[in-house]
Amino acid sequence: MLTYQTLPARHVSEFAAAVREGLLKPGQRELPSKYLYDEVGSALFETICLLPEYGLTRADARLLQTHAQEIVDRLPSPIHVAELGSGSGKKTRWILEALSRRQRTYYFPIEISPAALAACEKELGQIDMVSMVGYEQPYLEGLRAVAQGRDEGDHLLVLFLGSTIGNFDRAAGEDFLHEVREILQPGDALLLGTDLEKDTATQLLAYNDPAGVTAAFNLNVLARINRELGADFDLSFFRHEARWNYEERRIEMHLRSMRRQSVRIPLANLRLMLNEGETIWTESSHKYQPEEVVRMAERTGFQCKGQWIDEEWPFAQNLLIVV
Ligand code: AVI
Repeated sequence: MLTYQTLPARHVSEFAAAVREGLLKPGQRELPSKYLYDEVGSALFETICLLPEYGLTRADARLLQTHAQEIVDRLPSPIHVAELGSGSGKKTRWILEALSRRQRTYYFPIEISPAALAACEKELGQIDMVSMVGYEQPYLEGLRAVAQGRDEGDHLLVLFLGSTIGNFDRAAGEDFLHEVREILQPGDALLLGTDLEKDTATQLLAYNDPAGVTAAFNLNVLARINRELGADFDLSFFRHEARWNYEERRIEMHLRSMRRQSVRIPLANLRLMLNEGETIWTESSHKYQPEEVVRMAERTGFQCKGQWIDEEWPFAQNLLIVV
């Protein structure tokens, strides 16, 4: 697989600045959720996807497996596939195989993690009639590069699966869809996976599994700050917490400080005093109503041409076409 990379070597200072800004936020301390995904965090997330309590990934995959042909039949031809945050790429096989039955297809996974791109190549590199070109870039940068490189008359199908959109605030999610729309042309498509609202106990258990994998995933962000920024967080003084925010209709993950404690983060030039009971907010996972996704699509320049909902775990695949 070819890979295009333009990531600058400013990682550490960017991370340090984000940690500093988030932890100094007045009112509620925060850490941006994208920092949950270092090598350890990504491996823990892959394990979360296997947990019986976390039905989201299986629902996402089931819908693609069952409806790939129907989805592909609603797309113009020729069309190539760009995936935002491909992860290991496992779920994408169904779509690529369905497309490859009618045309030669280019597949452009867009990922900031080289390890994920390598896993994706291993998983999907050998499909007949499919050529893969990876982009080691942030989503929108990568998508712009893919769109600029396309031949006249070729359409693009963008995949944004796994309800990753739920990790944006609702307004930011909508802005993001709008930005994607601006890069695309009429007739292009976006297949958007959205986790749907379900009973609160089920939702909470999905983010607070009894084996403690999600707790480890959450706590790992502190371990990462220790490793990369020389900090001295003692993880045993923090507890993972998942909450359902009724007003915002989202799961929030927090790390609760179990005692009054001070922490040094040398590379962020920061010394913190955390109170007993105080929390650091690490992630939001917004949940949706099916109709809400249709309206959001319309507000951002798309039309919803199909919506498939899993019967076991309320989750929707939404096929949005650029108008
Ligand atoms: C990647 N994202 C959609 C997951 C979610 O459900 O919000 C991340 C996750 N966080 C805890 N468990 C899974």
